[in-house]
Amino acid sequence: MLHGMRQQWDIALAGGGEQALARLGEEPFDVVVSDMKMPGMNGAELLRQVKNRHPRVARIVLSGHADSDLVMQAFGVAQQYLAKPCDRIVLQQTIERAIMLKTRLGSEEIARAVGGMAGLPALPAVYQELVTYLKSPAATIDHVGEILGTDLAMTTAILKIVNSAYFGLQRPISRIERAASFLGLDTIMTLVLEHGLFNDAPVVEQDGFDHHRLRRHSLLTGSIARAIAASHDETHDAQEDAFLAGVLHDIGQLALAIARPGSSAEIQEMMTSRRMSRPEAEMAVVQATHGEVGAYLLGTWGFSDSVVESVLLHHEPARASSGEWGLAGIVHVATAVADHPQASVLEDPLLDVDRDYLAASGVASRWPQWREACLRIAEPESAP
Ligand SMILES: [Fe+2]
Ligand SMILES: [Fe+2]
Repeated sequence: MLHGMRQQWDIALAGGGEQALARLGEEPFDVVVSDMKMPGMNGAELLRQVKNRHPRVARIVLSGHADSDLVMQAFGVAQQYLAKPCDRIVLQQTIERAIMLKTRLGSEEIARAVGGMAGLPALPAVYQELVTYLKSPAATIDHVGEILGTDLAMTTAILKIVNSAYFGLQRPISRIERAASFLGLDTIMTLVLEHGLFNDAPVVEQDGFDHHRLRRHSLLTGSIARAIAASHDETHDAQEDAFLAGVLHDIGQLALAIARPGSSAEIQEMMTSRRMSRPEAEMAVVQATHGEVGAYLLGTWGFSDSVVESVLLHHEPARASSGEWGLAGIVHVATAVADHPQASVLEDPLLDVDRDYLAASGVASRWPQWREACLRIAEPESAP
């Protein structure tokens, strides 16, 4: 299928897992595309080893294999899952995107750490609540969806699975409750209770990193982003995209806290003592911003370009590719309002928004409608 790409790419073929690992040890590769059922080592095991030994190599499964148990193992280690028969263009674009994302993160150390992450840690209290609830005989999928939706790591993991090509959806699902009911109670129980979907995530440092605050801020930003999209009469799907982008916009902060333990406190200290913005302080401490890290993570996990771009640019929406008001702008305003809900005018100095960009996009005059929509949103309850 990729024969035509031999001019642009160096392609090596391996007859099985052992051979692939041997080749990976000999020279650097950007991407591994693996089948699932192979003699000797299966695809899930191969990709697990690639993840551990070569975290910078993107991991893609291309398989027509439908043994759901094996597929569920692969969800834990592959970044993307393509189903055979696969369109040549889709395969080509998936590989190109993986290579493009690799080059976007300036810090090799952070890119290695983030590339090796198969998942992010859920809040322990939410994880416990989910496990206890899944084991109760009266469990319903609606309530499972609600629990999943209150945690960033769970939301990301479930949406990554549902939107993988394995399920072949026509349009991506961005609502976690819909994703949960699509997968069904049995599948979620198998993933969580048998395959430990949220169980083997890396440990997040406690020093200087407030997981509860991030969760509250993210859910509130999601709700505000949805309200802003609704006030612009966006379609229902676009409103759900805005909610998802809002919920995920700061996920890079969680990934950074894991990638470089101790950095959260250092970044916080820089922000306070040198009056730096968060992205400035992050560049000074880890040479990567949470926007870049979040976009890299979600990009490698197959999230849509518009969500990835809005996460990348939520602190500088003027750089968005369209140059116009869009998802990045909505999230930009939503995160600022979430931090300062008391701001009554757009000129409030506490409200950290790019007013020139809003004026140039012709939306600055919408502030009263945004504010009215936002005032109707109650802050999510604090975490357990
Ligand atoms: Fe942010
Ligand atoms: Fe934020």
